[in-house]
Parts: sequence; C-alpha cells; structure tokens
Amino acid sequence: MVIVIDGPAGAGKSTVAKLLAKKLDFAFMDTGAMYRALTVKAMRCQVKLDDAEALVALANKTHIDLVNESGRPLKVLLDGEDVSEAIRATDVTNNTFYIARTPGVRHVMVEWQQRMGERRSMVGDGRDLGTVVFPNADYKFFLDADFKVRCQRRIDELKAKGQAVDEEALARDLAERDHQDISRKVGPLKQASDAVRIDSTNMSIDETVEFMFNRIQQKK
Ligand code: C5P
Repeated sequence: MVIVIDGPAGAGKSTVAKLLAKKLDFAFMDTGAMYRALTVKAMRCQVKLDDAEALVALANKTHIDLVNESGRPLKVLLDGEDVSEAIRATDVTNNTFYIARTPGVRHVMVEWQQRMGERRSMVGDGRDLGTVVFPNADYKFFLDADFKVRCQRRIDELKAKGQAVDEEALARDLAERDHQDISRKVGPLKQASDAVRIDSTNMSIDETVEFMFNRIQQKK
C-alpha cells in the first residue's frame, strides 16, 4: 500500500508522514531527503549545479538509501555514508533547487522512488508523489498551511535544535522555495486532482495524523 503526502515546505509533511508510517507500521519515504542527498554529493564533487548533463551523470553513479529502523529517526545513506545531518545544512537546502529542477535527475529519482514503493508498504512525502511518482497511490493527501505558520514551524524546529535563526532570511528562502517548486516545468509542486487537501494552519501534528489515519480507515 502506498500513501503519499505532498505539499509546500514547512507544512509539516515529514513529521506527519513519519508518525503516520509508525502508526501503520509502514516504511517512511522522505523524497526531499533524496534530492538533498544528491545535492550534498554534487557540492562535494564540485559539479557545476547548472550543468544538467553532469548532474544526471552524477545521479546515475550514486546510491541513495533510506533506512527505516524501528524507534529510530530515518537514516539517509549516500553511497553508504550516513548524511542524515549534512542534508539539513542551509546551503544544501538552498542548492537543492538546482538538482530538483533538472528533468533527467528527476527521472532517475522517480525510478528509485517507484522501486522503493514496490518493495513494501510506505508513507511518502514530497512534491510530485501524487501526480508523477505514484499516480495510482492508495491514498493521496495534500498538506498545506498559511505561509506565516509554515515559517514559524521552521523557526521553532531550528531553535529546538539549538541553531541561530535569521527569521527574515528564513521567510525569504521559504518564499523563494515555494516559487521554485511551483514553477518548475517537470514535477512541480501540485495537488493531484484526487488528493484530499488538508489545511493544517490551525491543526496540531497529532490532529493532522489522526485525520489522515481516520480517512484511511474509512476508505479501507
Ligand atoms: O521536503 P524537503 O524540503 O526536504 O525537500 C527539499 C527540496 O527537494 C524541495 O525544496 C524540493 O525542491 C525538492 N523536492 C522535489 N520533489 C520531491 C521532494 C522534494 O523536488 N518529491
């Protein structure tokens, strides 16, 4: 069974997807983490981020794995190395745009993700899962929230990790990322016509998970 949650940055997709996966005893597939991991490799290898051909060649010789271990955070492996922390750095977040806009790279990513979805039941989160990667997913959700709330959630998340936050810069980056995700030609952020839209502006994480869980139980 495949459940997908798409939506803009900061809507709470990953947190919700992780908890829902746990509740259902499914794997969690963080597709953003995969784009981020390839970004880390491109930056380390000093591949020009606007060289589409080089990025596709790099993707084709890269192995990205997502490891679900019960009771532990998702582990992101880049060619066997744990990059779960490295992929969250601000420069990686901002450079992921170059990787995500490259059609040939998306093609490779989509194939990896589809293969992962064939192996076991999972909850995936991303931008194009309901529209491109899993058009026949069993359940599709589109999770959104007001821009200000999404910014605040990101600020709280970083502060909880003890990181200093430039709130204005964060809001600018998030708005820019929304724009890039919506306007890219291949695999843009888009609600699938058969997805259930959830506005989590005034909902807690637990309420959102519960809402999704109940929808899944009703439709079963
Ligand atoms: O979800 P997260 O913020 O970690 O994703 C990082 C970036 O990866 C997003 O800004 C988006 O551009 C890209 N992405 C994508 N398609 C997905 C998941 C993420 O293009 N399915």
